[in-house]
Amino acid sequence: MSSFDKDSLSNTFIVAISICLVCSIVVSGIAVALKPTQQENKLLDQKQNILRAAGLLGQDSNVDEQGRDVDELFAEFDVRVVDLDSGEYRDDLDPATFDPIRAAKDPDMSQALSDSEDPATIRRRENASIVYLKRSEGEIDKVVIPVRGYGLWGTLFGYLALDSDLQTISGLGFYSHKETPGLGGEVDNSSWKATWPGTQLYNDQGEPDVRLVKRRSPEGSKAAQYEIDALSGATFTTRGVENLVNFWTGEMGFGPYLKRLKASA
Ligand SMILES: Cc1cc2nc3c(=O)[nH]c(=O)nc-3n(C[C@H](O)[C@H](O)[C@H](O)COP(=O)(O)O)c2cc1C
Repeated sequence: MSSFDKDSLSNTFIVAISICLVCSIVVSGIAVALKPTQQENKLLDQKQNILRAAGLLGQDSNVDEQGRDVDELFAEFDVRVVDLDSGEYRDDLDPATFDPIRAAKDPDMSQALSDSEDPATIRRRENASIVYLKRSEGEIDKVVIPVRGYGLWGTLFGYLALDSDLQTISGLGFYSHKETPGLGGEVDNSSWKATWPGTQLYNDQGEPDVRLVKRRSPEGSKAAQYEIDALSGATFTTRGVENLVNFWTGEMGFGPYLKRLKASA
């Protein structure tokens, strides 16, 4: 009489493989089912970051003072793709699907930067990027641009918002970086971020000239209008932030677009 040996080596393998298979099917199923929610959350997070940079949403809030939520507030923005060299709109590219960061990795959609062209250490710059425009009674109210650049440990990704004059900074916020908490990570400190609004961007020569300084110029002086406190113990991150702001608002960044926008206002 043949006896069934449930402890045999082959049965142990069959049971172990079956359990692995069932678990992997369950995990993959959950991952696939959660993908749309993850994408929705990513989009919501992006909108919140843009609104926070523009000062339209509190740093820890999901609604404004009038109770308007993120989608309602973001709906006031016109989202456009811009050719960075000419500063013209690219209506052939859909802002809903165009990804500037991905474009920067594609040699057909970006250009390599030489060392002198690359103070933000991004190596390649996309040919086109996205702008977020908020108008009020037909006039420009806020312009938000994506910015990025190298700190100490990696690239900081964020948004810079400008006021209607395209000269005054409305806010800066980073949604991703690798800087050390308490040192370079202080880029996320809300007190430091609150010092950005009102800072002047272009100097008398029309060049972006934001300076992150250890010692501020006397209050009321012209130089002080361009200055932001450096992050203490984080010289590399500080330099990185200064460089990326000046790069993305300069000739190789959104400078040509912002000039055009100013001229058309
Ligand atoms: C563990 C560790 C983490 C650090 N993280 C940062 C950082 O995120 N950003 C930064 O600029 N410097 C960071 N530094 C400090 C730099 O190495 C460097 O000493 C500092 O930028 C000098 O700044 P200071 O001139 O303001 O003192 C870190 C140092 C250590 C040891």
